[in-house]
Amino acid sequence: MERIVEVEKIAFDIDDEVTLRPSTWDEYIGQEKIKKNLQVFIKAAQKRGESLDHVLFFGPPGLGKTTLANIIATQMHANIKTTAAPMIEKSGDLAAILTNLEEGDILFIDEIHRLSPAIEEILYPAMEDFRLDIIIGSGPAAQTIKLDLPRFTLIGATTRAGMISAPLRDRFGMHFRLQFYNHDELAQIIRAASTKLSLVCHKDASIETSRRSRGTPRIALRLLKRIRDYAQVEDEAEIFLHRAQYALDELGVDEQGFDEMDIRFLELLIAAKGRPMGLGTIAATLSEDEGTIEDVIEPYLIANGYIEKTARGRVATPKCYEHFRLTPPEQKPNLFDEGLS
Ligand SMILES: Nc1ncnc2c1ncn2[C@@H]1O[C@H](COP(=O)(O)OP(=O)(O)OP(=O)(O)O)[C@@H](O)[C@H]1O
Ligand SMILES: [Mg+2]
Repeated sequence: MERIVEVEKIAFDIDDEVTLRPSTWDEYIGQEKIKKNLQVFIKAAQKRGESLDHVLFFGPPGLGKTTLANIIATQMHANIKTTAAPMIEKSGDLAAILTNLEEGDILFIDEIHRLSPAIEEILYPAMEDFRLDIIIGSGPAAQTIKLDLPRFTLIGATTRAGMISAPLRDRFGMHFRLQFYNHDELAQIIRAASTKLSLVCHKDASIETSRRSRGTPRIALRLLKRIRDYAQVEDEAEIFLHRAQYALDELGVDEQGFDEMDIRFLELLIAAKGRPMGLGTIAATLSEDEGTIEDVIEPYLIANGYIEKTARGRVATPKCYEHFRLTPPEQKPNLFDEGLS
């Protein structure tokens, strides 16, 4: 099912994603701590005339990891080569990428948690010593050839902080966890994008849209584009609050940005009456893949206190019951829990 609040990229986003993608720090709204730190480290590296240390970004989809990687490249006046871990299947693929790098280049590897252990092994000396060890032949006759690589910066991005191996994580000099955006930041992003699309979006309309964007710029931009369609059909040159509200309701996005999928998920937990529910059961009941639930649906619900993840499964919080105007189940001491913990 395609969700309007889908955070993964869908085909119609791709073109606009490039035009709307901020290319300077000023255009990149929010994530202030990350911005401030990166600005310092970039300036320091430039003063020393060195390449930037390797950088790792964690965070749910659509929060701006790829965008940050591109801004770093612009700020460092560096070329950026972009790839994704599933595209690097054989050690030869990575060797080819590494040997084609030039001094100061940035290599961006998306979904870096999906590198195979054998590929990671090649990456370690490349990251640490800018050296490529190539093994030729096998058995006792095998030989290792060492090749020097130019000093490059690896930028890794992952939606799964927990799935990246410790040795790989430790080889990044900087780790940044992106946070969901607040309404004010999203409203600014919506207004800036409107300007780029030659649209006038009234402030109240941008705020309403931001409240329903699940803290995620990619969703905010997608909703803006759909609202624009509704306005255009009505021959309205500007986006007014009532049109935004109407469009968002039509799109099935509620006041918290929950769509049908979120609601089915939350109702499932509520139906469990306070008993934790395992990821496997949830996935099977919703006919959704476990990875999507963990990466895409849950992070926003957890960050905003609608669900809790315990060792035994997921539970709905009192805030979740309130959202549906229901009374949370009484907290009964659970004898099983005591025995287990
Ligand atoms: N801080 C920001 N300010 C303004 N626009 C932003 C910001 N962060 C992201 N965006 C917009 O949201 C879109 C999605 O961001 P981006 O592609 O960088 O996300 P991502 O974290 O790389 O997602 P994924 O995990 O799916 O690769 C971008 O096209 C950009 O226009
Ligand atoms: Mg990305």
